Amino acid sequence: MTTDLEQHFERTLEKDQRIEPRDWMPEGYRKTMVRQIAQHAHSEIIGMQPEGNWITRAPSLRRKAILLAKVQDEAGHGLYLYSATETLGVDRADLTERLITGRQKYSSIFNYPTLTFADVGVIGWLVDGAAICNQVPLCRSSYGPYARAMIRICKEESFHQRQGFELLMTMMKGTQAQRDMVQDAVDRWWWPSLMMFGPPDADSPNSAQSMAWKIKRHTNDELRQRFVDMTVPQAGVLGVTLPDPDLRWNEAREHYDFGELDWDEFKQVVSGNGPCNAERVAHRRQAHEDGAWVREAAAAHARRQK
Ligand code: 3HC
Repeated sequence: MTTDLEQHFERTLEKDQRIEPRDWMPEGYRKTMVRQIAQHAHSEIIGMQPEGNWITRAPSLRRKAILLAKVQDEAGHGLYLYSATETLGVDRADLTERLITGRQKYSSIFNYPTLTFADVGVIGWLVDGAAICNQVPLCRSSYGPYARAMIRICKEESFHQRQGFELLMTMMKGTQAQRDMVQDAVDRWWWPSLMMFGPPDADSPNSAQSMAWKIKRHTNDELRQRFVDMTVPQAGVLGVTLPDPDLRWNEAREHYDFGELDWDEFKQVVSGNGPCNAERVAHRRQAHEDGAWVREAAAAHARRQK
């Protein structure tokens, strides 16, 4: 026998309306939203590190200003998403603790090194491009604060993707050394970008329930395919080769066929054994510790205002 509250929850989902913080929700729904939004927020904050690594070494003032703006945006996305998570009754200090103690995840993609400035362009083009594919549907996620946060974040991700593509176009019109630098970065970031969409649907324990609760609007494989179909023509415009010999248009499917991902690599990176996992978490831990005095001063100031 379902209660009135459960019926209201179900009816709200059926009508594609939003669940708001004040509404009753199943505990499993709340836990799923905390997990997904918090890990998304962690990803934004950790994601500042790979590109931030190049701010002091950008080749021109213009590139430095663009990169500064982008990294600052990621910080804002993280804070936005931590605020959305807090509407579910959790505290961001606890979420940070869960991140730095490895009890919560962040996106695998940020555990790879940024070896040249071309990586900054490829991250904008591929990583933010993948983020847009994954996050535009989340603007229709059933949890109100998350869906609304996504609308603003997706607008800024579009700027990120365009600035990355423009940077690469500039380099591809440059010297052979610059063109080689771009191709090397594409070779290193293509497959990890496809892994951003998560494990195959058959190995995705959360997808079925998240789709039923209209948290996720498409499966991992559907969005991965959408990203490949969108990106292959862009690679042609850029003049780069995507590192997949099995990549080809399938007229019957009206999609690109592509090769098998290295799911062992994915599992290794997600479980903490990627190229930069230890460095990324140590850096986040250090930043948190270094900022303790600011938090204490702000709390003391707030107490004096009461
Ligand atoms: N990296 C790390 N962990 C991953 C992962 C990845 N790329 N893909 C999946 N996982 C984890 C999941 O979190 C889950 O573990 P958990 O139960 O402990 O949380 C497990 O692998 C199984 O995966 P599922 O497919 O069952 O999990 P989900 O249904 O949560 O789907 C997801 C995974 C597609 C990433 C989904 O959580 C999602 O869409 N999240 C919101 C978007 C997001 O977080 N994007 C991160 C990219 S960073 C970014 O966009 C910043 C931009 O500036 C580039």
